[in-house]
Amino acid sequence: MSALVEKIKAEIAVQGAIPFAHFMDLALYCPEYGFYERESVTVGRSGDFYTSVSVGSLFGELLAFQFAEWLEKTPGDQLQIVEAGAHDGKLALDVLKWLKKFRPELFARLNYCILDPSARRRAWQQKTLAEFDDSVRWLQCGSLNPKFSVRGVIFANELLDAMPVHRLGWDSKKREWFEWGVGMAAEGFIWAKMPKSIGATKLDSLPSELLEVLPEGFTTEISPAAEAWWVSAARSLKAGKLLTLDYGTHNEAGLSPNHPHGTVRAYSRHKFCPDILANAGEQDITANVDFKVIQQCGEAEGVRTEAFISQSQFLTDIASRMMASGNQSLVESPKKSRELQTLIHPEHLGRAFRVLVQSS
Ligand SMILES: C[S@@+](CC[C@H](N)C(=O)[O-])C[C@H]1O[C@@H](n2cnc3c(N)ncnc32)[C@H](O)[C@@H]1O
Repeated sequence: MSALVEKIKAEIAVQGAIPFAHFMDLALYCPEYGFYERESVTVGRSGDFYTSVSVGSLFGELLAFQFAEWLEKTPGDQLQIVEAGAHDGKLALDVLKWLKKFRPELFARLNYCILDPSARRRAWQQKTLAEFDDSVRWLQCGSLNPKFSVRGVIFANELLDAMPVHRLGWDSKKREWFEWGVGMAAEGFIWAKMPKSIGATKLDSLPSELLEVLPEGFTTEISPAAEAWWVSAARSLKAGKLLTLDYGTHNEAGLSPNHPHGTVRAYSRHKFCPDILANAGEQDITANVDFKVIQQCGEAEGVRTEAFISQSQFLTDIASRMMASGNQSLVESPKKSRELQTLIHPEHLGRAFRVLVQSS
């Protein structure tokens, strides 16, 4: 039995079933044993997980081009790019290299700040970014607050969909929501119904006509961690843009009818794993971002929604402007053209990934 499984079992032995959000938090982020903490976890086609960053440097270069356009319009002598969830620092490296080469004046008045709660990941990032030692700063977790003002860009790629979620199920007889917790049996961890451990505003405001027809056990998620992160980022942003690129949906009706069992899923080496509770710490766990909720969180803090579009549209627009500005590397390099195809093609990363941009 792994040390992480033992740790979770010990918690359940003391307090009974634990909320799934806590299980997911431990499985992904428990110091030393969580999935994202493991030294051996590698990113890329042959690695444990795969993001737009793994496709090649083009993703970071396109973002750098877009950031430069935004930053040039942001008032202030000193500007910041804040990246949250930088993992091994590869995306930061691609962005910084492009800015240093193509926008040296902007680069000179820029601070690149990284926000990541893990000391271990910070060490990986410092190694990757050694050549940019003077331009990069690491922020303490919780730094994003109204006292810390950012002029520039705050962004995250695939952070919100890796934040812990509470799974809530509908009890049609009692007409109330319960929470899916995690308990244990001889065969391992099992799903256990428990009372709702958290307020869920999005569910409390659902129309009664919808609840009338909701089938028994209909399951959905809420992510207070993702909401709180977005609120704190919106509060910190004094001038500029707040951006996330993530896998998710915009659930107009408040719930996603296409996902009656919710959207939490697990992967190991890119393969779908049917048992979310198995192999804690060795498989990735993720859930769709509810962009409607995230958008509303930002708007309630006073930031304006500028765009909610597919990654395909977002990156295609940037690539066109990049080429129009005279940077022909995209059409001249077959490698870059292939990278662009992978990033924007609907069968790859283009359609499922969405981009939300808000501004202050
Ligand atoms: C799916 S990975 C995304 C990695 C990277 N952004 C990329 O695109 O390849 C999610 C990352 O979020 C980070 N993370 C988790 N919780 C965080 C938080 N509260 N603040 C900042 N980063 C966090 C971890 O570093 C983890 O590596």
